[in-house]
Amino acid sequence: MSGKTRSRTHLRYSGSKNALLPLLEQPLSNTRIVVEPFAGSLAYGLNWIKQAEPGRRRLRAYEANPLVRLLWRWLRDEATEKRLRHLPAFRPKHKVHFSELRCSDPSDRLCPAEQVLVRLTASGSYTGQLCSALIYPQHSWDFTRLIELLPHARSGIESVGKSYERSLDWARTLTRSQRHRTFWFIDPPYLGTEGHYRYKDIRGNTVDLTTSVDPVRVQRFVKQLISLECPGIITYGDGAEQLMPSLPWQLVTTRSVALIRTGGSKLRGEWGARF
Ligand SMILES: C[S@@+](CC[C@H](N)C(=O)[O-])C[C@H]1O[C@@H](n2cnc3c(N)ncnc32)[C@H](O)[C@@H]1O
Repeated sequence: MSGKTRSRTHLRYSGSKNALLPLLEQPLSNTRIVVEPFAGSLAYGLNWIKQAEPGRRRLRAYEANPLVRLLWRWLRDEATEKRLRHLPAFRPKHKVHFSELRCSDPSDRLCPAEQVLVRLTASGSYTGQLCSALIYPQHSWDFTRLIELLPHARSGIESVGKSYERSLDWARTLTRSQRHRTFWFIDPPYLGTEGHYRYKDIRGNTVDLTTSVDPVRVQRFVKQLISLECPGIITYGDGAEQLMPSLPWQLVTTRSVALIRTGGSKLRGEWGARF
């Protein structure tokens, strides 16, 4: 026994629903496919998949951030448990640019998807997720939970598609997957947290996924949500009732969130609505 506590989540991700899983309603029992149009760390879908025999449940994901799409495709198609266990060998002793990470064998390099994984795990997600190129030694490089989920990701993730970048046209993310026995889990970026999903692309350019909320577009999104033939849930933060008043919102829980820039913390409501 190492005596180390196990990491709570499989992937450090801004806005992850991992901590809310016990409180969120589960898909109907006859569901075969869960669709997540705002994939992130896929906490909801993977948790659902792992409760059944491999291959029985499928997950369809869409994500605007190409780096996150790259990571999920690699985890599904190429990653091995052995390789994930080897990653801590790259852990730096001092703050370092992610492209300079080295292990004792100089021919051993991190592939682009591994770089994304390490950046998510070891860099500051709150100042712009995947925006910082610096890796700090103090963060956990424990991939135990991700390793546990790997077989489920391999057998269960059906596809990882692109959602519409740089636009808040969420309605467009709902035009697909109207299939029988499908359940939607919809977790868009909360108002005011858009900057968390900012990232630096391969050329080093900073990309902002969302810049402002357009009420007309949000209205269209909700209208489309209500007319979906498949059931699902949507989650949102405080302001959910004001932004999308026609949905039957319920407070799921309140949590204390750290205020990174100003210090201290504040209470934030987590809301959910069934449709
Ligand atoms: C709240 S997070 C989802 C978190 C996820 N449910 C989890 O448990 O990790 C929202 C996700 O939507 C993505 N996103 C941001 N803007 C978007 C846009 N305009 N269209 C589609 N996806 C977007 C972000 O990259 C982020 O991964």
